[in-house]
Amino acid sequence: MIGRGDEAFDLARELSNGMNRLIAGPRRMGKTTLCRAALDLVRAEGQYVASLDLFEFTEPARLAEALVDRVIANRSGTARAKHAVAKGGRRVASMAALTPVARMKADLGEEFSLALEPALRKRDPVGALGNAFRAAQRVCEIDNQRLVILIDEFQELGAPRNPFGDPERVTKAMRAALQDCDRITTLFTGSLEHMMRDLFGPAQRAFYRWGGWHELWPIDAATWRAGILDRYLANGLRPADGAVERIVDLGEGHVRSTMLIAKQAYLTAITLGEPTISPTVAEVALEMAMAADAPFHDAVVEDLRSGGREVLVTAERVARGEPPYKDRSRASTAQRALRVLGKKGVADKTAPAGRGGWRIIDPLLRRYLARR
Ligand SMILES: Nc1ncnc2c1ncn2[C@@H]1O[C@H](COP(=O)(O)OP(=O)(O)O)[C@@H](O)[C@H]1O
Ligand SMILES: [Mg+2]
Repeated sequence: MIGRGDEAFDLARELSNGMNRLIAGPRRMGKTTLCRAALDLVRAEGQYVASLDLFEFTEPARLAEALVDRVIANRSGTARAKHAVAKGGRRVASMAALTPVARMKADLGEEFSLALEPALRKRDPVGALGNAFRAAQRVCEIDNQRLVILIDEFQELGAPRNPFGDPERVTKAMRAALQDCDRITTLFTGSLEHMMRDLFGPAQRAFYRWGGWHELWPIDAATWRAGILDRYLANGLRPADGAVERIVDLGEGHVRSTMLIAKQAYLTAITLGEPTISPTVAEVALEMAMAADAPFHDAVVEDLRSGGREVLVTAERVARGEPPYKDRSRASTAQRALRVLGKKGVADKTAPAGRGGWRIIDPLLRRYLARR
């Protein structure tokens, strides 16, 4: 991780102190990396942590199960063994398992079983999710611990096809459960900013005023240069004057693009058998990074096209640095297209409301769109 060390430290301290935090921002800007680093710090301090990614689990029952598993994974060996037994038929089927199951249930209370038993989870998945949080709280009480839960890609709870069922129902159940869990602190992150703001902003939402927003700290050019230079030197490559500067310029502060170009430059130098990275290698690396991202770019273009021709055309105009529309009669269509691009996390506004100024967030995607 380049930069962000202090940021991870700050975030970890807030979480350790029981402050719920929310992060919303475009994809590939380092949210997940930052959150994991913060959780590692929290864990290093001895607190429990659990992280869940809603792209990975697309139903409440699986999420409930994973949450309990990850909380249990923090416990000592013996406590974990008890849990494995308590999961019954799934892992340990022997009769001898009964006593520890009974002990486990006595330990954690009857309601815990809802989060543990597959049949019950199936019958009431949303209830099971609430109970998974309560079970996590109980585990913390018994172990005299605090727990930080990271839920990544949180906006999926409100995604259009309702993968987790009715968003209002599931968020209400989560909030109701978490409300009572004073040992649990949450970190929710999402990559579709408007959906995140919508889940947490309006007063009628279950998670209204749930936590404070953490804005990602920008990584300045000097930090990028120093970080990339360190990595090259550590790998036995000595960049020529201007090469690292060029790479950082090409990455335009976008986290993943900068790292991808830096990596491609490294690979190019290695392939050429050169002990150095020249500014020319940086240019080659840009093209290689574009090629590496081509499938992603194609997918974005397909997605934009499906939103209507105007959306793609407007994206291309913005990418080329042109005004979003050529003739005034198209202004409102272009405005709609810009809103779609914003919602999809492809473009964002660079100027205050009322003034123009949109940009394509990912510089590699911008180049791709501009060249089309
Ligand atoms: N601070 C950083 N320094 C170097 N590489 C980073 C940094 N943050 C993220 N990355 C890399 O950039 C890519 C995107 O990061 P990720 O955390 O997945 O972003 P997001 O969660 O915002 O989509 C990953 O490959 C990750 O390893
Ligand atoms: Mg992420």
